[in-house]
Amino acid sequence: MSAPLNVVVLNGSPSFPSKTAALGQEIVTRLAAHVPVAASTVNVAELVPFFGDTYGDPRSPVAAALETIAAADLLIAASPIYKGSYTGLFKHVVDLLSPSALLGKPVLLVATGGSERHTLALEHQFRPLFGFFQADTLPVTIYGHDSEFTDYQVTGEGLDSRIDKAIARALPFLSADAREATLLPVI
Ligand SMILES: Cc1cc2nc3c(=O)[nH]c(=O)nc-3n(C[C@H](O)[C@H](O)[C@H](O)COP(=O)(O)O)c2cc1C
Repeated sequence: MSAPLNVVVLNGSPSFPSKTAALGQEIVTRLAAHVPVAASTVNVAELVPFFGDTYGDPRSPVAAALETIAAADLLIAASPIYKGSYTGLFKHVVDLLSPSALLGKPVLLVATGGSERHTLALEHQFRPLFGFFQADTLPVTIYGHDSEFTDYQVTGEGLDSRIDKAIARALPFLSADAREATLLPVI
């Protein structure tokens, strides 16, 4: 039997509670209905006190978070939309990753926003960012807007079905065979 899929949610929200965190958790729960999953979350808000002069310190929570992200079989890269893009804190953590940390890694792009207007930020802002890392961004992204959450839980039917569609399209990229293939050296 293959090892469970190591799923890491990177939540770029500076707030707690967080709709983005709730959406990330919901995606993990639904994914676990299809494949065995071992999940963890990196909340950028928790790293804020450790930004500064600790980047090089291997004992820093920032270093541990970067290692967690680099070890993921699937990265759920999730951020609230701020001013039409990911948050500054989300970008700051991504900035600290080694350029090779996400090479060939499946990345599911996820955002929450106050309105539907910024859905395409996932294509125009998030996808190129992960293109820099030569990550394998998955074909269908997930965007949830404020009216699709109640008390920090996913309640919108539209969002509900968009999550299922994105997972269905992601699954072929997450099989044991696909994971083996991503380990092959690039020639
Ligand atoms: C500083 C700030 C800027 C924001 N900018 C946008 C924006 O440009 N477009 C949008 O749709 N929502 C915007 N929002 C709303 C958030 O993206 C939305 O409420 C999100 O779901 C919050 O996620 P969280 O609960 O995980 O923090 C903004 C919110 C804040 C606080």
